[in-house]
Amino acid sequence: MRGHTSPIGIIDSGIGGFSVALRAQRLLPHENLLYFGDGGNMPYGNHSAEEILAMTRYMLRFMEEREVKILLVACNTISCLVDRFRAEMTCPVLSVVQAGADAAARLPGKKIGVVATCFTHNTGCYPELIGKLAPEKQVISRGCTKLAALVEHHLGDPAGREKLNADLRENLDELVYGEKIDCCVLGCTHYSLVEGNIEELYPKLPLVDPADQMVKTAEAELERRNLLNYRSERGTLEIYTTGSPEEYREKAEKAGLDPVTSVRSYPRLSL
Ligand code: DGL
Repeated sequence: MRGHTSPIGIIDSGIGGFSVALRAQRLLPHENLLYFGDGGNMPYGNHSAEEILAMTRYMLRFMEEREVKILLVACNTISCLVDRFRAEMTCPVLSVVQAGADAAARLPGKKIGVVATCFTHNTGCYPELIGKLAPEKQVISRGCTKLAALVEHHLGDPAGREKLNADLRENLDELVYGEKIDCCVLGCTHYSLVEGNIEELYPKLPLVDPADQMVKTAEAELERRNLLNYRSERGTLEIYTTGSPEEYREKAEKAGLDPVTSVRSYPRLSL
């Protein structure tokens, strides 16, 4: 039976959703979080829609069995397909792309840049959702082939920093200096984990991290359903991964997550 103490579920292809878990630990510190990162199958962004749906349904079953009270789809790539699986869940399902579009539509600038995986870029999901909310805005989206995997494997690793920054420049220079965008949506949750690198490279560029809006929307939804956890102790964070639990624990700590209650291995769905 779902209730106040049931966990909030968070899914991503890998560690990208840690950016959402981090905001959740700050804004909703008493909630228990249950995280699933499909590290054994990432990156999702270079897969087909049918493959992404199969891998997603595997994570949905996991979350449904554990009776999460709300599911945060902390992966933009998966969120582009949310209309194809939302009805399969018995709890509310939030899309990080919707959260990013909501936040971007409210910003003052006219020209919005979006960096995302190739899949997210090719669906045209961001221009469509922002266009519905603020038709006067121009949205220029860019698909990045390697960036999510670089973050997954090099987060917090000084040796990988140059590689990561070179890829960021390759993807962002044209948007910033050529298109002269007014702000940039981090349209892949992995990119939010290297927000500091992006700020250093482009100090004047306002960034939109959809994680902030996503957690605010989750709080409002749980409050509306009377499902917020009002106890006084800190909530737990249980992480499951189809990748390496040792690597996930290390990355979770580098991302700033605290507490990290447990990190466990989970069998991978092979396609
Ligand atoms: N973190 C994911 C996103 O927000 C996807 C990264 C990937 O697996 O390609 O799109």
